[in-house]
Amino acid sequence: MYLYLLNKQNIDLSVAEVLALANIQKHEIFDNCLLLDELVDYKRLAYTKKVFKLLFSSTKKGFLKDFKNYNFNNDYKESFRLELINNKDYKIEDLADIIWDKLKNPKADMKNPKTSFEIIFSKKIFVCKLIYENKEKFEERKAHLRPFNHPTSLHPRLARCLINLSSSEEILDPFCGSAGILIEAGLIGLKTTGFDTDDIMLKRAKNNLDSFKIKNYALEKYDALKINKNFEAIVTDLPYGKNSKVKDLEKTIIEFLTNSFNFVKKIIVVFPDFVDSKKIIKKTSWKTNKNFDYYIHKSLTKKIFVLGK
Ligand SMILES: C[S@@+](CC[C@H](N)C(=O)[O-])C[C@H]1O[C@@H](n2cnc3c(N)ncnc32)[C@H](O)[C@@H]1O
Repeated sequence: MYLYLLNKQNIDLSVAEVLALANIQKHEIFDNCLLLDELVDYKRLAYTKKVFKLLFSSTKKGFLKDFKNYNFNNDYKESFRLELINNKDYKIEDLADIIWDKLKNPKADMKNPKTSFEIIFSKKIFVCKLIYENKEKFEERKAHLRPFNHPTSLHPRLARCLINLSSSEEILDPFCGSAGILIEAGLIGLKTTGFDTDDIMLKRAKNNLDSFKIKNYALEKYDALKINKNFEAIVTDLPYGKNSKVKDLEKTIIEFLTNSFNFVKKIIVVFPDFVDSKKIIKKTSWKTNKNFDYYIHKSLTKKIFVLGK
């Protein structure tokens, strides 16, 4: 069993991201811990902070006895460090001593341990061994830090999550702007295509993609409403209407969704919250598989939809 420690910002979205990459869908959630009997391609995840092998779980009452009885030797290599998450009841030294006494060749290493044991105190207590810690530098790729900026670009972490929700090896962003979504897809090795009707945007997109040394991409000056080739999945952040030149936004979105239905298997789409997204989708043949509200700030919540057939 594996434990995914999720970002608390939006648990539903974080869970959906992991499950989109998994074959097994049966899972359990305790606070921000997702338990799943499958190790997904975790290095591409956006909203998972750490991935663990679950050694055992226990209750508040039975914990100390279970902990003392567990044989840590099978999961130990060379040296170890113990970390506690959400702990209120124990001294870390006392628990580390118990592990130490159990090990055949114990060695502590606080800086670069070969084995990281972590105990998460939640509704249950999970004793785990760390497999992966997410140190992906999403913050450094935020729009204003990219060489060619676009003010409405999605946060790179959210862009990566949307790509994972598509569980596709190939994506199209037909409103690609300065390529925020394409960069995140390119960085995990997906084949990407971007359309935009604005020459300046396409130039920015190319420069941004090149600056991240992304190779497998195509950019085209093309109208998103006139897609006429097959694509596995669209991942896109719809134009806002406020800054972009799109006039009748709702009409445009309906036209885009209706036309793309004939060529694309699934769409992960972000709506601005000032349009009636549910009403718009009802006017098309797309089915809503999942939807999430994503809070950005007081006056802006985005609506994320996973649409299928
Ligand atoms: C919200 S921005 C996309 C931001 C993008 N996700 C990024 O990271 O930079 C919308 C983009 O859609 C483009 N656009 C508007 N109408 C379009 C259409 N009919 N076909 C293609 N692109 C269009 C605009 O030029 C703009 O660059």
